[in-house]
Amino acid sequence: METLLTPASIAGAAYLVAALLFIMSLAGLSRHETARAGVGYGIAGMVIALIATVWAVVVDAWGSGSLAIGSVLLLVAVLVGGSIGLWRARVVAMTGMPELIALLHSFVGLAAVLVGWNGALGENHLTGALRDIHHAEVFIGVFIGAVTFTGSIVAFLKLSARMKSSPLMLPGKNVLNLGALVLFVVLTVWYVMTPVLWLLIVVTVLALLLGWHLVASIGGGDMPVVISMLNSYSGWAAAAAGFLLNNDLLIVTGALVGSSGAYLSYIMCKAMNRSFVSVIAGGFGIAAPTSSGDTEEGEIREVEAEAAATLLQNASSVIITPGYGMAVAQAQYPVAELSAKLRERGVQVRFGIHPVAGRLPGHMNVLLAEAKVPYDIVEEMDEINDDLASTDVVLVIGANDTVNPAAAEDPGSPIAGMPVLRVWEAENVIVFKRSMAAGYAGVQNPLFFRENAQMLFGDAKERVEDILRAL
Ligand code: TAP
Repeated sequence: METLLTPASIAGAAYLVAALLFIMSLAGLSRHETARAGVGYGIAGMVIALIATVWAVVVDAWGSGSLAIGSVLLLVAVLVGGSIGLWRARVVAMTGMPELIALLHSFVGLAAVLVGWNGALGENHLTGALRDIHHAEVFIGVFIGAVTFTGSIVAFLKLSARMKSSPLMLPGKNVLNLGALVLFVVLTVWYVMTPVLWLLIVVTVLALLLGWHLVASIGGGDMPVVISMLNSYSGWAAAAAGFLLNNDLLIVTGALVGSSGAYLSYIMCKAMNRSFVSVIAGGFGIAAPTSSGDTEEGEIREVEAEAAATLLQNASSVIITPGYGMAVAQAQYPVAELSAKLRERGVQVRFGIHPVAGRLPGHMNVLLAEAKVPYDIVEEMDEINDDLASTDVVLVIGANDTVNPAAAEDPGSPIAGMPVLRVWEAENVIVFKRSMAAGYAGVQNPLFFRENAQMLFGDAKERVEDILRAL
């Protein structure tokens, strides 16, 4: 009697467990309190998936009489890839995470392109509708993979400041994007009817250019949405590769990543007052800014740490709005200590978190949780914005674009329409930063010149420590 326990069926059962763990991981990651457990489920799912896949391939090769060269290569690839991944994850600074993630997305895209090409070049004995479906899978997989690949490379370059973050404004950019999509549909139908190799070459080049252009056309302020969108694309690219490799887990996992990334992009677009469709279409319909936003306006007032400490001592309500600079300075520990000290003295202290502060979704929440700031004093922008007008002191710690009044008041600004923390409505605002440099979107900040704003120049960690000493 034929046994049901084949390597493929055992791997299939392991895949089911891994898929459940991935779903539990996503559920866990949706709340602060369960996020750590969520990461644990994800790691467990990935370990099971990896072992099951490698084991099934090796056992299969062993059963067919020889430990094929393919199995050896697979083991070596897992060891080399796993070691590099472990090393990078251990050494990466928190501020380097966004570009690392963008780079990892590009690998998923490249893998999907290679799997697609392999599917096209390899032998297949399919006929009729199955053959057409196979060719469509190849073509679509290569297209999504190549868009993800170059799009993620541009995101990597922009996030690591190797490429300027302002949007590329080619004449007729919307027509170019739309034209590329229409051409892709036409080429897909053509390839399914006549699967010749040059069509695959054309679609690969087309998709590589489109991916590059889509992300290059997005301005700094909209990059958060682009990152989650590329995350979503990488999921769909993995799902496409799963269809070609006949791997159910890759299909399920790809669909999970693809749909959760798409939903995150949608939430971010809502939070940033942007149209989802226009962002995924490379800034479709977004008018070019009419002002560069880099003109300085008036005088600034400087403050020293001692004077800032006195202001805080006399305050009854304080709101802290952290931004990317807090991550750069690693100022979260002294900031947490400052908030605890003020609370001990009876001052009401809360944190106001902008949805895209920092360089990663939830970046500030992670840093504050790391420094053990209680969750109940950390509030989202929408929850805290109306309270800013009745606040004595706002401490802007390394934030810039997320507290820029130009977004609310200057319709020609490159960040016009983006909701921001209205810190300028408070009685006093102290801005911690090192210079008068602009934020990520490259736009000057009129907040610095307001009468109720004072600049506390220097590294945010050092300046907060100075305040702690003075208190
Ligand atoms: P930013 O606008 O990037 O401004 C950060 C400020 O921190 C800079 O102006 C910088 O000024 C200051 N800074 C840097 N190092 C510092 C240090 N050691 N000590 C003190 N200050 C320091 O920050 P934000 O307000 O958080 O806004 C985030 C921006 O990034 C938005 O435009 C957002 O769209 C974009 N973005 C976000 C994400 C996600 S998902 N969150 C992803 C990609 C892009 P100095 O140089 O003068 O010190």
